[in-house]
Amino acid sequence: MKNIVVIGAGTMGNGIAHTFAQTGFKVDLVDVSQQALDKGLATITKNLDRIVAKGNLTETQKQETLTKISTFTNLADCAANADLIVEAATENLDLKLKIFRQMDELAPENCILATNTSSISITKIASVTNRPEKVIGMHFMNPVPIMKLVEIIKGYSTSPQTFSAIFDLSKTLGKVPVEVNDYPGFVANRILMPMINEAIETLYNGVAGVEEIDTVMKLGMAHPMGPLQLADFIGLDVCLAILNVMYEGFKNPKYAPNPLLVNMVTAGKLGAKSGEGFYDYAENKKAEKVSKMFLK
Ligand SMILES: NC(=O)c1ccc[n+]([C@@H]2O[C@H](COP(=O)([O-])OP(=O)(O)OC[C@H]3O[C@@H](n4cnc5c(N)ncnc54)[C@H](O)[C@@H]3O)[C@@H](O)[C@H]2O)c1
Repeated sequence: MKNIVVIGAGTMGNGIAHTFAQTGFKVDLVDVSQQALDKGLATITKNLDRIVAKGNLTETQKQETLTKISTFTNLADCAANADLIVEAATENLDLKLKIFRQMDELAPENCILATNTSSISITKIASVTNRPEKVIGMHFMNPVPIMKLVEIIKGYSTSPQTFSAIFDLSKTLGKVPVEVNDYPGFVANRILMPMINEAIETLYNGVAGVEEIDTVMKLGMAHPMGPLQLADFIGLDVCLAILNVMYEGFKNPKYAPNPLLVNMVTAGKLGAKSGEGFYDYAENKKAEKVSKMFLK
């Protein structure tokens, strides 16, 4: 594999593009928004600067990495030579189905189509293509250049050849791939999201405030970050979307998103990316507590 196309230049897409480019692949980064592409490239440059400052990359290697990345607002302009397309657009079923129909139409026959979805069925996504055996989940973790894990999710029809190609490719990227079957939430989010939802429920019930809940989990369970802050970094809209997929997928009320999470997303409080979630990120007021307003 030489030519990689990454769809979506947001939180995950720019990290995935960065990781492929730094490993030596040519990357075409596609987003419908030119602003998202500019922001994505700025983030990649900033993150590469950090790696250079730590002495883990030379300035020349940084420049080489950046020259490997090209940006596009239209998939049709770069799909023809792709060996692999990794879709990392917004977590929305209809959008992903639309993008996969386009990918299938525009990409060469032998191109593997991967999705970074956090929870949507790989089997369902594959079903709208004419190559379900070449569709697979490649679930990177945030921040992609740092986090080692990649969940490799096999859809019902994913072929063993596709699976081993993506499993080995993940190792080439310096990651640790883990084989997972295609059920709602896969493994990572099936376990993580109920914990985050329960932390929100605990806040909603007035048991404790934001910092108190996060402190209990950090100091009591040795988690590097509390669940509410983690939710802010993942994006509260992403958390809500994942819980809804599991709720509908299992038809089990234990995955029902807490009403406070629903309200916050409706009010545009999406976490770090919007400047406010459980904590306030505006004007460098990082991690300021806004919990009391939620206490009954
Ligand atoms: N945020 C996380 O921590 C995390 C972790 C693992 C996986 N994921 C998954 O990764 C995917 C992306 O999440 P994110 O957090 O990067 O979202 P994001 O909102 O930061 O970025 C999504 C990007 O997709 C772009 N987009 C929307 N429609 C598009 C289209 N038709 N073509 C091209 N680009 C389009 C948007 O303009 C935006 O820039 C989702 O499926 C999400 O579930 C997220």
